[in-house]
Amino acid sequence: MPQLFSPRADRRLRLAMGLGAAALVVLALAAWALARSDRAWGVGVAAPQPIPFSHAIHAGSLGLDCRYCHATVERAASAGMPTAETCLGCHRQVWSVSAQFAPLESALALGSAVPWSSVHRLPEHVRFHHGAHVAAGVQCSTCHGPVEAMPRTVKAETLSMGWCLDCHRAPEAAGIALPASPTAARHEHYGVEVSPLTRCSTCHR
Ligand code: HEC
Ligand code: HEC
Ligand code: HEC
Ligand code: HEC
Ligand code: HEC
Repeated sequence: MPQLFSPRADRRLRLAMGLGAAALVVLALAAWALARSDRAWGVGVAAPQPIPFSHAIHAGSLGLDCRYCHATVERAASAGMPTAETCLGCHRQVWSVSAQFAPLESALALGSAVPWSSVHRLPEHVRFHHGAHVAAGVQCSTCHGPVEAMPRTVKAETLSMGWCLDCHRAPEAAGIALPASPTAARHEHYGVEVSPLTRCSTCHR
């Protein structure tokens, strides 16, 4: 077969193809890193709120307990969010003149919940339970960071499946001592799964 391209053109084509392939690999790696970056999970990003609420003032300076506003965190799946009454109990006395509090007054008048936005929502298919974690001695700050120092609430951890599993695989590494399960030794002996904490159905319905 006669040569269609000069050896020089051939070399150039090979070089271009090599560079193209390298560029694709670099792009794929960058996309992979970006998808796994904290930013892609919304870490450190605040949400617009009906009222510019500050944990730094209320849980920090004023020293209010988390449970004052998140009343069900020790017993229920959901931590619970403050109602208009919770805020107005104080804000009828202090700062009450500010127009900032209008959303509280209308929630109170309508008997509806204050429309706080969330920065922590997990997908529908994931199950989470605050009470179980608080009872096991996991601190709020382990999952939410230093909330009492935040002027605007942001997510401190990705809350990705990998992040949950890091602790569920070895809670003792995170400083959490679980009571020894009477069935654990038997499970270990027969070689079946020891910890239900890593089972899919623990977190997925
Ligand atoms: C005076 C009431 C009050 C106290 C005390 C308080 N919070 Fe909150 N918290 C709120 C309000 C209001 C919001 C919604 C507005 C916002 O996100 O800033 C909120 C939101 C949050 C969120 C984000 C919820 C979501 O859906 O993304 C977390 C996490 C949180 N609080 C943790 C804490 C922790 C931890 C403490 C104790 C250190 C605490 N809070 C103390 C009122 C309070
Ligand atoms: C093991 C990690 C973990 C711990 C410990 C933890 N949280 Fe959460 N928190 C989460 C996750 C995950 C969500 C999102 C839940 C969802 O979307 O179902 C959340 C959501 C919240 C919310 C929004 C309302 C809700 O329940 O969805 C508040 C408020 C909150 N947490 C406060 C607290 C406080 C206060 C403490 C400590 C007493 C605490 N959390 C301890 C992981 C944790
Ligand atoms: C225990 C009493 C108390 C409760 C409950 C309380 N606050 Fe406050 N709040 C205060 C005080 C005191 C200040 C003034 C702090 C200062 O000037 O340093 C303040 C300040 C504020 C400010 C103005 C500061 C700023 O960030 O610009 C807003 C807005 C506010 N609170 C909203 C709320 C909301 C929303 C709730 C309910 C989730 C709430 N507060 C619950 C006592 C309270
Ligand atoms: C720092 C450690 C830690 C992290 C992070 C953590 N967990 Fe857990 N989780 C535990 C421990 C410890 C238990 C066991 C509590 C017990 O059995 O007493 C538990 C139990 C559970 C349970 C069972 C609750 C029940 O009803 O018995 C669910 C569901 C769960 N975790 C979901 C999650 C999800 C989803 C995440 C991530 C968003 C997460 N956990 C992050 C430590 C953690
Ligand atoms: C400790 C809790 C936990 C356990 C155990 C767990 N998951 Fe998840 N899973 C999550 C959380 C949280 C998310 C949502 C965040 C994310 O996508 O990483 C999730 C997301 C997923 C998704 C959706 C991923 C996506 O890209 O949307 C799939 C599929 C999934 N899990 C499958 C599994 C399977 C299969 C198992 C068992 C081998 C399992 N999970 C065990 C917490 C858990």
